[in-house]
Amino acid sequence: MTFASSFTKIVGAATALAAVVALSNLAARAEEEQPNPTRQEWSFAGPFGTYDKAQLQRGFKIYKEVCSNCHELHIPIRTLGQPGGPELSVDEVKALAASYTVKDGPNAAGEMFDRPGRPSDYFPTPFPNPEAAAAALGNAPPDMSLLAKARKYERGFPAFVFDALPIPGGMYQELGPDYIYAILHGYEKDDDPNWNAYFPGHKIAMGKPLVEGQVDYPDGTPTTLDQYAKDVASFLYWAAEPTLDQRKSIGAKVMIFLLILSCLMYFTKRTIWSDVAH
Ligand code: HEC
Repeated sequence: MTFASSFTKIVGAATALAAVVALSNLAARAEEEQPNPTRQEWSFAGPFGTYDKAQLQRGFKIYKEVCSNCHELHIPIRTLGQPGGPELSVDEVKALAASYTVKDGPNAAGEMFDRPGRPSDYFPTPFPNPEAAAAALGNAPPDMSLLAKARKYERGFPAFVFDALPIPGGMYQELGPDYIYAILHGYEKDDDPNWNAYFPGHKIAMGKPLVEGQVDYPDGTPTTLDQYAKDVASFLYWAAEPTLDQRKSIGAKVMIFLLILSCLMYFTKRTIWSDVAH
C-alpha cells in the first residue's frame, strides 16, 4: 500500500464521518426548530387584494373581547372609522371610545383623573407597563399594532424568490398573519399548555387564548377556531397596515400607466425609424 493510497483512504473516511455528523446535527436541529406556518388564503393578498370589512369587524370583536385583556394595541380608537378598515360609523366610534376609561391630567389641583375615552384616544393598555405585564403573565405580551408586520419566517429557497415575483401566488407578504394563525393553532400537546408548535423554542408564556365558540358572531359566521384565527389575524394585519387598500390601488394604476406608456414609446420608436432602411 503506497502512502498516497492510504492517505486518500483516510481523507475519504474522515470526510464520510464528517458528513454523517453534519447530517445528524441537521436532523436534530430540524426537530428542535418549529415548522413553517402554512400559507392561508387572505382577501388582502396579491396586487389587487383588499380588506373584507365584515371580517375586520369580527376580528376586532375577538381582539376586544379576548386579546385586549393582555395585549396592547397602540392605535387611536378613531382609526376604526377610517375608510378601508372595519369602517365603524361615527356614532359607533364615539360609543366605543366612551366605553373605555382613560387616565388624564393633571388637573388644576395637580391630580390625575379618570374620564370617558374620546375617539382620538389610543386604546387603553391592559397593564400599566411591560414589567407589570411580565410579572403577571410570565412574559410581556407584545403590542399588537405592528405584530402582523413584524413577525416573519424564513421561507427558504426557492420559495422566497417566487414570493417576490408578480406571478399568480407571488408578491406574497402575508407571512405575519400566517404566523398569528399558526400560533393560535399550535397548541398541540394536551399535557403542556405552554407548548406551541410554531413559537420559536416552543415554550410560550401565553396559554391557548381562543377556543371554538368563545366569541359570538352576530352575522352568523361559523364560530370555529379556524374562522376566529383568520379573522383576528386579518384584523391585526389591517391594524399594522391600514392604508394597504390605497397603496394597492395606486400600484395598479401605476402599472396600467406604465403599460400604456411602453406601448406609446414602442409605436413612437417605430414611426421615427420607419424610413431608415435596414
Ligand atoms: C392571558 C393573556 C393573553 C391573552 C388573553 C392573549 N395573549 Fe397573546 N400573548 C400573551 C403573552 C404573555 C405573550 C408572550 C409569550 C412569550 O413571549 O412567551 C403572548 C404572545 C402572543 C403571540 C406571539 C408573539 C410573538 O412574539 O411572536 C401572538 C401571535 C399572540 N400572543 C396572539 C394573541 C391573540 C391573537 C390573542 C387574542 C385571540 C391573544 N394573543 C390573547 C398573553 C396573552
